[in-house]
Amino acid sequence: MAPIGERMAKALNEQVKWELFSSYLYLSMSAYFSAMKLPGFAHWMRVQAQEELMHGMKIYDFVIERGGRAELLAIDEPQFEWASPLEVAKAVYDHEKKVTGLINGLVNLATEVKDHATFNMLQ
Ligand SMILES: [Fe+2]
Repeated sequence: MAPIGERMAKALNEQVKWELFSSYLYLSMSAYFSAMKLPGFAHWMRVQAQEELMHGMKIYDFVIERGGRAELLAIDEPQFEWASPLEVAKAVYDHEKKVTGLINGLVNLATEVKDHATFNMLQ
């Protein structure tokens, strides 16, 4: 595989941060559900948190595999309280839409810089 370009590596490092933030946010939602005595919902969000962590690690490994530098960026503190379980569900939906938009941006960048390996990984 060709070495990764600096712009693509930087964008992927940024995405690792977003995937880890997603994981952190979903874990925070899991904690909220645990506090609400809703263990089924808490478990579901915990599984989502693990999945997002896996997405982040997949991109992290990819950057290294391509000879790039996996640079870890600061992760924001996630929201802690919600008005109701329904508000959490709405927040998940909004967050997923945002992250899908970010992935689409990466696909566009991979196309622009003709980085087929990154394009394929993102699929
Ligand atoms: Fe993800």
